[in-house]
Amino acid sequence: MRAFTTLAAVAGVLASGASAENYLGFNSGSTKADHSAKFKADFLQEFKTAQNLESAPGTFNAVRLYTNIQAYSKDDPISAFEAAVETKTKILLGVWTSGTDSIANELNALKKAIDKYGKSFTDLVIGMSIGSEDLYRISETGIKNEAGVGAGPDVLLKFISDYKKSVAGTALAKVPIGHVDTWDAYTNATNKAVVDALDWVGVDEYPYYESGKGNHIKNSGKLFDRAYDAVAAAVGDKPIWITETGWPASGPDWDEAEATVANAKYYWQEIGCRKLFNKVPTFWYNLRDSNPDNKMQFAITKDLSTKPLFDLTCPTTFDTPTGTSASTASATGSQTSVSAPGSSATGGAGSTGGSTDSGSSGTGTDSEASNQDDVVEGSASLGKGLSAVTIAGLALVAGVFALF
Ligand SMILES: *[C@@H]1O[C@H](CO)[C@@H](O)[C@H](O)[C@H]1NC(C)=O
Repeated sequence: MRAFTTLAAVAGVLASGASAENYLGFNSGSTKADHSAKFKADFLQEFKTAQNLESAPGTFNAVRLYTNIQAYSKDDPISAFEAAVETKTKILLGVWTSGTDSIANELNALKKAIDKYGKSFTDLVIGMSIGSEDLYRISETGIKNEAGVGAGPDVLLKFISDYKKSVAGTALAKVPIGHVDTWDAYTNATNKAVVDALDWVGVDEYPYYESGKGNHIKNSGKLFDRAYDAVAAAVGDKPIWITETGWPASGPDWDEAEATVANAKYYWQEIGCRKLFNKVPTFWYNLRDSNPDNKMQFAITKDLSTKPLFDLTCPTTFDTPTGTSASTASATGSQTSVSAPGSSATGGAGSTGGSTDSGSSGTGTDSEASNQDDVVEGSASLGKGLSAVTIAGLALVAGVFALF
């Protein structure tokens, strides 16, 4: 047993690679639930609440943004930057890359921010994500689900290059570059060139939306771990950042998944506390809901109160078995894959809708309506993808075995 545990631990370390500081934050779109723009006061309130949440298992002093552009403007810097400077909130930047052949407005807004705020801004920037779920939307599943306009590896590579040129010689030149997508985008060999171009990979994971996979809340830990481990096996030593995850506190049932406060709390503990907080850079979904079209409400607090819907304290014991890499390997024989297409529903509907629409294209908004239904069938075709990854996982474990 002890040997087994050690083995699993070693495999886990190898699989997850070196990781940076384990940031804690939430996602924040550029608009509110009524589609009106967020301004500095709105971001200030969000960031202050995040940092002062009662019984939080750490300080939530980071934020993931989806665009550099202030809503209602062409290329003015988003006012979240100024609010972040005032509250010392760390920033994971994002650039919207689907349905456009230019990210010039995004880059202009960023340049203006660098000029205007200088070091007080650039010192807070912890990463840049070029794109969000673009590869999912053009995958077989995404197309079948009419997930909306996406972008292929070539487009992403071009925008990564555009971004690099744009920040060369600035204080952001050293900021690590990532991309955010669903897990199966990373296990798809066609997308390898994108992974190779990144410093870290951002993964959106929502076990809630895993229809047909036994997505009861009690299974959420297992579902989460399988998808996470599949990515880890596929991306080698690139650090993984969990850019979106969460469980709705209210809304309709989704197959076996029920949206309740009790389940949102369980998920916080079983995925957040057990697997992510202070272990992996994590951007929880979410502090505040921003998409009125999504019946699932993910906010962990009401009206930005610092008193959350449930006690955020982390327990010391968990239901999900530990030694996840080993469990992936052993589970794979019998089980098919797990996808995180829910990310597109919530990411797309919740975050994309609430964020990117002000940016370079209307694509984000277009995809909202369809996403909801899409997700139901989302995981059907993913079994094939995992088997290869699983084999890699098994090989990894076997390789570790050889060390003993
Ligand atoms: C793999 O990725 C490519 C490029 O992103 C995409 O065209 C293809 O459909 C993906 N494969 C699957 C099975 O989704």
